[in-house]
Amino acid sequence: MTETATASSTETDGQSLTVRDNRTGTEYDVPIVDGAIKAADLGKIRTDEESPGLAVYDPGFVNTASCRSSVTFIDGDKGILEYRGYPIEQLAENSTFLEVAYLLIHGELPSREEYEAWVHEITYHTFVHENVKGFMEGFRYDAHPMGILMASVGALSTFYPESRNIADADNRHMQIVRMIAKMPTLGAWAFRNAQGKPYVYPDNELSYTENFLAMLFKMSEKKFHADERLVKALDVLFILHADHEQNCSTNAVRSVGSSQVDPYSAVAAGVAALYGPLHGGANEAVLRMLRRIGSVENVPSFIEGVKSGNERLMGFGHRVYKNYDPRAKIIKKACDDVFEVTGVNPLLQIAQELEKIALEDEYFVKRKLYPNVDFYSGLIYEALQFPPEMFTVLFAIGRTPGWLAQWLELVQDPEQKIARPKQIYTGERRLDFVPREQRWS
Ligand SMILES: CC(C)(COP(=O)(O)OP(=O)(O)OC[C@H]1O[C@@H](n2cnc3c(N)ncnc32)[C@H](O)[C@@H]1OP(=O)(O)O)[C@@H](O)C(=O)NCCC(=O)NCCS
Repeated sequence: MTETATASSTETDGQSLTVRDNRTGTEYDVPIVDGAIKAADLGKIRTDEESPGLAVYDPGFVNTASCRSSVTFIDGDKGILEYRGYPIEQLAENSTFLEVAYLLIHGELPSREEYEAWVHEITYHTFVHENVKGFMEGFRYDAHPMGILMASVGALSTFYPESRNIADADNRHMQIVRMIAKMPTLGAWAFRNAQGKPYVYPDNELSYTENFLAMLFKMSEKKFHADERLVKALDVLFILHADHEQNCSTNAVRSVGSSQVDPYSAVAAGVAALYGPLHGGANEAVLRMLRRIGSVENVPSFIEGVKSGNERLMGFGHRVYKNYDPRAKIIKKACDDVFEVTGVNPLLQIAQELEKIALEDEYFVKRKLYPNVDFYSGLIYEALQFPPEMFTVLFAIGRTPGWLAQWLELVQDPEQKIARPKQIYTGERRLDFVPREQRWS
């Protein structure tokens, strides 16, 4: 017996998968659309009417698509990353972070008028309500800036209750502008809190990235200006982090956003996911590793330790990239520009030697382990005077347009539903409750 699951032949281009259920001998034709089958179609495979349909077990969504998306394309084997079809190398070289943010949100590069209006809008929404400042001051002196950022982004939803109206396009746009504009203000103030320094208000005469540096580092000078090579390097780092398709934090934004909550709450979930060491914290681990190695002479013995399984070469390897991470190449180049201004970070030599040896060594070649985005970024951040706990805040600022572009796509996609994964239940069933007197006697 053959049964056919949904999708018309025009949608599938005639492609399908034939599955034979050996429990029943039934064969099923499952349509293939865009190189994927629908998990719901597998649900039609069952031994009888009463039994549950066949499910897919996939912890960590390793081979499960949760959405259709036109925001970011990655080919991990070839080392390709594109935002809305534009290669990351060209965007990093020729664009600005705000232009890339526009591209991600709107799906196309802006005209001159569109760009100027966008920059103006973002610039004039960088201030936050004074009460935000008030509650940020309430955090302990040693509060991690990511904890502060997560709480304060979430709190913005209470300052803009209209943000709940996610069905209205103008309203969505307003919240997107506000969030991109205010993230640097919140991030910089979280940093100043840890330093015990007064908060610096945004300066609307400065560019997005220079203003961020001003809010971080300005002291008593009348006007803050950073070296333009440093501003450019940080702007490029923001571009490189702006989106990376369905990673852990983006999935968190989409999952929480699927409940139709306001975008501030959804992005707060993204910040929370990024806070975790498996996601946003690897560049800090690279710095710690380089310090521990201490000098170029110790690199060979460290590599031996990695090969014998006692160490991990942090900043190498990636779940998706099985080739040189295209962002790592760009960051390596940005290192030169930054160190020209700040002087060379002595750890750079160790990093370069590690890379050289690893790229030639069979252990790494066989496993397709190449430098990832975090291998050099920590060195740059350190040269820019950022303490390690700020590294993830920088990542969050850069990733905000990506989170919002993905959220926007989610709320406008008629195929999306509230996120609700299936489980495979492994616990007990139908136990009789034992009253306390009997259990505790
Ligand atoms: C990123 C990472 C978690 C990807 O993990 P993954 O896709 O699950 O890859 P696996 O852990 O299955 O690794 C495959 C093999 O390469 C080895 N490997 C992976 N990354 C390695 C590294 N950084 N150093 C040494 N060996 C590594 C694993 O031990 C494994 O070897 P085996 O086949 O002999 O067991 C992993 O490469 C890693 O831990 N890298 C260092 C941390 C880091 O830089 N993270 C930032 C990512 S942007």
